[in-house]
Amino acid sequence: MLVSLSKDGKILTLKRSDDVSLRFHAIWLRDNALDPETRAPGNGQRLITIHDVPQDVSISQATIRDDMVDVTFSPEDKAVSFPVSWLISNTYDQSGDAHNGWLSNDKESWDESLQVPCFEWTHVLENPFERRNWLAAIARFGFAKLTGGPAKDGALTDQVELFGFVRETNYGRHFEVRTELNPTNLAYTGLGLQAHTDNPYRDPAPTLQILYCLENSAEGGDSTVVDGFRAAQRLKQENPDGFALLSGYPARFEYKGSAGVALRSRRPMIELSPDGELIAIRFNNRSSAPFTDIPFDQMEAFYAAYRQFASIIDDPKMAVKFKLQPGESFIVDNTRVLHGRVGYSGSGSRWLQGCYADKDGLLSTLASLNSELAAAAE
Ligand code: FE2
Repeated sequence: MLVSLSKDGKILTLKRSDDVSLRFHAIWLRDNALDPETRAPGNGQRLITIHDVPQDVSISQATIRDDMVDVTFSPEDKAVSFPVSWLISNTYDQSGDAHNGWLSNDKESWDESLQVPCFEWTHVLENPFERRNWLAAIARFGFAKLTGGPAKDGALTDQVELFGFVRETNYGRHFEVRTELNPTNLAYTGLGLQAHTDNPYRDPAPTLQILYCLENSAEGGDSTVVDGFRAAQRLKQENPDGFALLSGYPARFEYKGSAGVALRSRRPMIELSPDGELIAIRFNNRSSAPFTDIPFDQMEAFYAAYRQFASIIDDPKMAVKFKLQPGESFIVDNTRVLHGRVGYSGSGSRWLQGCYADKDGLLSTLASLNSELAAAAE
């Protein structure tokens, strides 16, 4: 490992033993200094603002010792050390080949061939490794099943408390998914439901949904899940212009099915980050509102792309299908994985409970479990 400085001290280069060079700007290093005057030692929060970083900051000296890089910043004459491992894990010197619709490495898109991530209630409850693996599967695939739970009213919120918090909505802390006489939502009928994401009319939309089975003896009622990210990738491959339309213009969604509720949102069906990462899917025929943000001469092409996206979503090759038994449940990342059901009827009953939760809480629990388990293994 070698360290060198540009003539003006504005760029530090770390040359790894495999000959790969990683460059860091002086301003970036100063802003991210790890010393106790820059970062609070207890909570790690930054104590300085951007105004505390001198505009003409440069590095007057940089040396490497063992696994640390010692840097002196000018004009402050401030000495700060950075662990080499920290620099490597925070590198930003990579080729900018980002294209629209890329997926981050920690996610994996899937179709019908997915080996369903399935975990056992008691294992997840009692074993932190299993709990970590369960949460990691949800983060990676946007979906996991949990079996062997109690067929008990409210067990779904106990499940949420294993990693975070229930998100309460106008449907309550949780809601009953069963046939009702005067349903406020088509979910509360025996109709089949096209695969969809829930509540795209909220902003923000709920990021996780749990569906928990209490009874399922009716004919039909199988659940399906579809990876919206894979569907978007397919659309991009088959019709790049259509992908650009669905990700480039906002759709509109609304729900006003019960008194005192008038929810509306204006968001795209395929959402990309500013640098093109696939970050969210919103797709729900029942709550789609008139599209009013698409230029007149693009409307027909927009509809063609919408139809094609729907055909991909409806393609049986895209879906994983299963019938939940009492005590079984699944979680979907509602910003990514669509869920649907086959219609049901006849004798027998079907009773699921559903609730929403926040993905940031799940990811936070996953990250801290990962560090705790890694520390315990050392
Ligand atoms: Fe739903």
